[in-house]
Amino acid sequence: MRSGACARVSFDPLDQEMRFTDFARYEQIREVGGIAWSDEHGGFWAVVDHDLVRAIAADDRRFVSSMGVRIPPNGTPPTFALEYDRPRHTVHRRILTEAVGPRAAPTLEARVRGHARRLLDEALACGGNRVDLGEDYAFRLSLDVMFDLIGAPPELKEEVEQLAEALFLYRTPLPDGSDPAHRLRQILEDMVASRIAVRRDDWLGQIIAYRNDTELSLTETEIHGAIVALLVGGHHSTARATACLLARLASDPTLQARLRAEPELIAVAAEETVRLHTPLRWFARTARAKVQLRDVTVRPGERVMLLYAGANRDPAYFDTPDQFRLDRPKANDHLAFGWGIHRCVGMPLATLEIRVAVEEVLARTSCVCLEEEVAWTSSTEPRQIPARFS
Ligand code: HEM
Repeated sequence: MRSGACARVSFDPLDQEMRFTDFARYEQIREVGGIAWSDEHGGFWAVVDHDLVRAIAADDRRFVSSMGVRIPPNGTPPTFALEYDRPRHTVHRRILTEAVGPRAAPTLEARVRGHARRLLDEALACGGNRVDLGEDYAFRLSLDVMFDLIGAPPELKEEVEQLAEALFLYRTPLPDGSDPAHRLRQILEDMVASRIAVRRDDWLGQIIAYRNDTELSLTETEIHGAIVALLVGGHHSTARATACLLARLASDPTLQARLRAEPELIAVAAEETVRLHTPLRWFARTARAKVQLRDVTVRPGERVMLLYAGANRDPAYFDTPDQFRLDRPKANDHLAFGWGIHRCVGMPLATLEIRVAVEEVLARTSCVCLEEEVAWTSSTEPRQIPARFS
């Protein structure tokens, strides 16, 4: 409980109703000035004002990530890069940039396209001209790409997907009641042990080799965290964004015709989808010093939740923020990939995956339409998109 006068909201990120009501909650915070205190989970500041969110994300000296970026913490070891501060963060970032950054991502395009084509072939072979563009395409695509890139055993896909949802997305227990953090640790230990036993020239083999690099000397925890960063960071976020754009495409013939006629706009549509739906809603920071944010004094040790999804619909920053527009001024100033030193390292790969997924659907159809209603599991996740190709 925080003493003293300040704007307050009740904001519980674990409340399952928030899956669909979070945008309305952001507006409540905006009405009281864009920053408000919530007593949930030990208390934190919730921020939706675009300029404030961006300023805090840019201020990694006074707002640190090493105290955890999740509220409440989920019991996993710190995620590589994401939950480290400088100078160690710089080392992590270099390693991840080599794998998925702006130079690496274009070299992965043929592999991503190969996965997209195979998945569409498989789906069409099963369903005739009917395809679920959600679960069977967008969600499988990003998982297949990450497993392929890492060199992770494909038979673990389903379980990793379930663990990631339980730990990092919805915080729901596993069906058998067991501890997902414990099971994830086991999987990571086995993965590392088997790659040490059988050397292979994949990313897993490379990251393990960094244990013995005198300059980098990665610990066991860091190696586990690095695998999680790519597996978990790279999967649901990209899948959701891809699915959101595909759902819109299948239900909007005008947009479809426009993207067929002007394929260079697919990348613009991808960026606007990421802004509008913001697949990863928020990340937290902890204040290391007393910081004045407008008329709010944040005390050392207090946590701040950066609600990127709220900032991306800030009407003081974006005109008509709830609309999908291909002609948006300041279109790339959204915060869906974060800001500052932790800004998403996988952004080049994510935008490439979304674009390629859409290009491949358009390439083998003259029309895509919805067969049934889209099944949303949250306001950012169209999980089933029953579509018909012609
Ligand atoms: C549309 C897809 C994606 C979205 C919306 C997204 C969103 C984000 C956001 C908001 C952050 C900032 C976290 C913070 O402020 O603390 C972030 C960081 C990160 N993302 Fe992504 N991400 C996406 C795709 C990916 C992909 C494809 C990968 C890996 C292949 C990835 C790996 C990471 C990692 C490792 C970080 C931590 C970077 C650091 O701390 O320096 N993400 N992402």
